[in-house]
Amino acid sequence: MNNFDFRNPTELIFGKGQIAMLSKRIEKGKKILMTYGGGSIFKNGVYDQVKKALDGYDVIEFGGIEANPDYDTLVKAIAICRENKVDMILAVGGGSVVDGTKFIAAGVNFNGDPWDFLIGKAPVCKAIPFASVLTLPATASEMNNGAVISRRATKEKYAFHNPDGFPVFSILDPTVVFSLPKRQISNGIVDIYAHTFEQYLTTSIHTKVMDRWAEGLLQTLVELAPELLKDDRSYDACADYMLTATMGLNGFIAMGVDEDWSTHMIGHELTALHGLDHGVTLAIVFPGVMSVMRKEKRCKLLQYGERVWGIKEGSEDERIESAIRKTDDFFRSVGMKTRLSEHGIGQETIDVIVNRFRERKWNLGEGGIVTPDKVEQILKERL
Ligand code: NZQ
Ligand code: ZN
Repeated sequence: MNNFDFRNPTELIFGKGQIAMLSKRIEKGKKILMTYGGGSIFKNGVYDQVKKALDGYDVIEFGGIEANPDYDTLVKAIAICRENKVDMILAVGGGSVVDGTKFIAAGVNFNGDPWDFLIGKAPVCKAIPFASVLTLPATASEMNNGAVISRRATKEKYAFHNPDGFPVFSILDPTVVFSLPKRQISNGIVDIYAHTFEQYLTTSIHTKVMDRWAEGLLQTLVELAPELLKDDRSYDACADYMLTATMGLNGFIAMGVDEDWSTHMIGHELTALHGLDHGVTLAIVFPGVMSVMRKEKRCKLLQYGERVWGIKEGSEDERIESAIRKTDDFFRSVGMKTRLSEHGIGQETIDVIVNRFRERKWNLGEGGIVTPDKVEQILKERL
């Protein structure tokens, strides 16, 4: 097990009716910027609940944050915060709204161009306080200090982490899951699965507790998927799902383990270049990483196959092949296409991505083992 330093200051307020707790957590007299996305909160009652809880508060609203939040939109909100001397931001939405809010909250205190946070040209600034009312379980942005920002003008998408950028609190009411379209449930299931994989399917370095926790999250997703994909999904399934999402990327399964993240970095390029949903990109790339990196990830692939899918028969090579097939089948069973060609994407895009990674000198994965050459093999395997 590696040495580690663990801290997560976000307060989770979980359960039915908890949006009303906003008035207990935010001091009256604070100037609040409420951020949201394209309008789903007006249709599912979340906006009304938030407004009721914040009755009598000084609130400015900023809507229109896109799925894959865009730099050009977010800088407008930074200006609004400065002009109005906003004290705190309340994100009401999915991962994109929460991520966008993290960028706004850090940008307020920065004199230069906050894009520099994303390209490593400037350290991320201390953020003004922000909190969230989450409406889409998937990213765990509600309980971590990471954010991913897109720039459509240049077809780029990058992540940043802010040591002082955790939400102060996040309200998770599982009833928000009732209004999610199947597309977003599929995206979420694959995203959570991939987060868990990125922190689990790496090296075998005696991390028994982390391994069991990660396997527990994967098994929970496999078990819940059919219920979640029904139109009348149950509250209990939604509650377990919401907690699985948060636990997938709030640092709790990362203690002492090696991490990969190559699937995510490759996936971000597919979103930046072709606008694919985040979850969709992961369903394509992950089976490729498993296949091309099978030598380096051998022990964990065998353990994963046995513990999550019960694969015990056959040679080691056969068991690994079967674990990869089971994963691909699972992604397809939740409605994902797992090949680039199914999205009309071909060699041209592979060349662009590999060239970008070569120029950036990116060696990804645990210990930098996923080199640009490997990325090329991974993507070719997924054609
Ligand atoms: O914009 P609105 O109208 O709200 O609609 C959204 C959006 O169209 C809709 N939606 C959200 N809650 C809903 C709902 N529709 C009906 N009922 C509800 N309760 O869903 C659509 C997608 O929302 P979005 O926030 O984009 O989805 P998600 O939470 O999957 O976030 C994706 C973004 O998060 C980043 C991704 O790269 C992507 O940009 N990630 C952030 C991470 C982090 N901060 O740690 C890690 C992840 O790996 C990921 O990269
Ligand atoms: Zn993700």
